[in-house]
Amino acid sequence: MKPVIQSNFNLKSVNTFGIESFAKEFVTIDSEEAIQQLIDDAQLINKERLMLGGGSNLLFTKNFDGIVVKNNIKGIELLAENDDHVFVQVGAGENWHQFVLHCIKNGWYGLENLSLIPGNVGASPMQNIGAYGVEIKDVFHELEAVQLRTGAVHYFDNASCEFGYRESVFKKEMKNQYLISNVTYKLAKQPNFNIEYGAIKQELEKKNTAELTAKAVSDAVIAIRSSKLPDPKVLGNAGSFFKNPVVENSLVEEVKQKYPNVVAYDIGGGQSKLAAGWLIEQAGWKGKQVGNCGVHHLQALVLVNHGNALGKEVYDLSSEILASVKEKFGVELEREVNIY
Ligand code: EPU
Repeated sequence: MKPVIQSNFNLKSVNTFGIESFAKEFVTIDSEEAIQQLIDDAQLINKERLMLGGGSNLLFTKNFDGIVVKNNIKGIELLAENDDHVFVQVGAGENWHQFVLHCIKNGWYGLENLSLIPGNVGASPMQNIGAYGVEIKDVFHELEAVQLRTGAVHYFDNASCEFGYRESVFKKEMKNQYLISNVTYKLAKQPNFNIEYGAIKQELEKKNTAELTAKAVSDAVIAIRSSKLPDPKVLGNAGSFFKNPVVENSLVEEVKQKYPNVVAYDIGGGQSKLAAGWLIEQAGWKGKQVGNCGVHHLQALVLVNHGNALGKEVYDLSSEILASVKEKFGVELEREVNIY
């Protein structure tokens, strides 16, 4: 069926920040054929375009003067298996957390630490989603994507995605050049749990879990996330608004002189990752409300919409936070959320 293009579409219901903004055109596609159809009809060429998944990592600061394509391609398929691994292909429009639960139920290991991350499967390779010591690059096998200019179908393996910390080629030179149709994950048939992250260990101990299972790890992650991160259905947000900055160890030493409690993780090569949440909290922002938006009271890395916030308001708040962290610590934060 030919996809129907809607005009002047209110994007409020399709972004987890709950920001009102209007797209000149909006279309939902549920198959690769549907996107080919839009390409054949020249509906996508020469237009400003935005490929939208779960809308959980973006902030609209103005109306979108182009076409928003909501990717709703579904399906989970076991493509192949060997003694050790399964290769599971999943449609980009599947909900990420539901997919994680499906894998756990089937005894496919590797995604349990990534439970309850908002958004859809298509976004997972885009920003190399990660939590509690695991990033999707660790279990990613391949993805299939349609090049929007030509309609050609291309396959990207792990190396060609150029994964980095919350980064991939799809956030850089390939931005809005492709529609990701499905992602294949290589998951293990035997568990190899990663529970080194302090909070997971504590949570498992608290529960006194008799047997370590993927479900137990997933439940621990769900408990930790729910205790600190706001549910977008209740309070609009897009997860961590900033990245944890990577800085030279010499700068960490300077900061330590004045602030001995600074949270820093040595990542080798003379560099460390600083906890942006800590920096923002110390700069006095945690729990602050400014107009209709603010900084979450339990996790300072998360900006929230207290209701009817404008995207511009949230963006301005983020600029103020950037400036104050820079002034206090000499550290430059970088936004993690995609700004439109
Ligand atoms: N911290 C504070 N104050 C705060 C928040 C954090 O002092 O308000 C300190 C904590 O005490 C801790 C450290 O900062 O010592 C790290 O905090 P946390 O474990 O909550 O993780 P994070 O570094 O703030 C990152 C990811 C999250 C991911 C968690 C768990 C980024 C940008 N964020 O947050 O990812 O869930 O680790 O692995 O890397 C997301 O990307 O949207 C996201 C939520």
